[in-house]
Amino acid sequence: MESNENEDSFQNISVDLNELKLSEKDVHSLEKQNSRIVAEFKANKLEAEARKNWDLFYKRNETKFFKDRHWTTREFQELIGDSSSQDQEIREKRTLLEVGCGVGNFVFPLLEENLNLFIYCCDFSARGVQFVKDNPLYNESKVKAFECDITTDRLLEELGESSIDIISMVFVLSAIHPDKHQTVFDNLARVLKPGGILLFRDYALFDMTMIRFGPGSKIADRFYTRQDGTRTFFFTPEDTADLGANVGFSLTENQVVKRKTINKKEGVDALRLFLQAKFIKGNES
Ligand SMILES: C[S@@+](CC[C@H](N)C(=O)[O-])C[C@H]1O[C@@H](n2cnc3c(N)ncnc32)[C@H](O)[C@@H]1O
Repeated sequence: MESNENEDSFQNISVDLNELKLSEKDVHSLEKQNSRIVAEFKANKLEAEARKNWDLFYKRNETKFFKDRHWTTREFQELIGDSSSQDQEIREKRTLLEVGCGVGNFVFPLLEENLNLFIYCCDFSARGVQFVKDNPLYNESKVKAFECDITTDRLLEELGESSIDIISMVFVLSAIHPDKHQTVFDNLARVLKPGGILLFRDYALFDMTMIRFGPGSKIADRFYTRQDGTRTFFFTPEDTADLGANVGFSLTENQVVKRKTINKKEGVDALRLFLQAKFIKGNES
């Protein structure tokens, strides 16, 4: 993961992955990754130690790695809700669940916008959750942070069935083994209210960080490990469409978007590709 995936200001330009032309160098790099695949015992160890590795990530980086995400209400206007009534007390407070919240880079800029939301946020890293609680803006009348592995049904125990209006999941599902992605969607679907919304942003296929992995990093198709043992998956719109459809969600957005950054050291444009999707839970599901 690169800290420059921090997305303070960016413009989303829609991309059709089928029309994307990779350079020869990129194709070569992707092929080279297959020369040394992560051994099964090591892949199993990474899976067993996923929580520990993220916790160590926050021990090392504390709150310094990701920048606050100030773009969320621009890309996800659903967070703003109905602003027709000036009196926030009259309007019912909606509930937001931010899953995989890390140290709260999504949560705290939102709190500062003073929206009519009660925010639940969770992460399976105890250190991440503690950093959220230690933030001066943390106030239990507005936000509640708790430890939870979203691949388990602890989420349901903590929040209850159909209790949440909006869920945000930003750069989190990629950190989870693809075999468990559907379980995560099942768990999210249970806590989401009928008509509730899931907001999703994550890495897309052929993002520059995928192409840059060297031999010895690839665990499975589109799934890689970093040096620190945290892992990352790269999504296609078909993945997100299937995950949502299997739990009866309908999609209102499902696109790959691009952003170019200049790598100062190499002086080249680095193509960042993200998958942005919005799902609605139907009344029947
Ligand atoms: C790249 S960080 C993103 C943090 C935050 N969403 C943001 O946008 O800044 C991925 C986060 O997902 C969390 N995570 C990974 N697997 C998880 C799981 N199974 N349950 C809960 N959190 C998980 C990690 O601990 C980490 O904080």
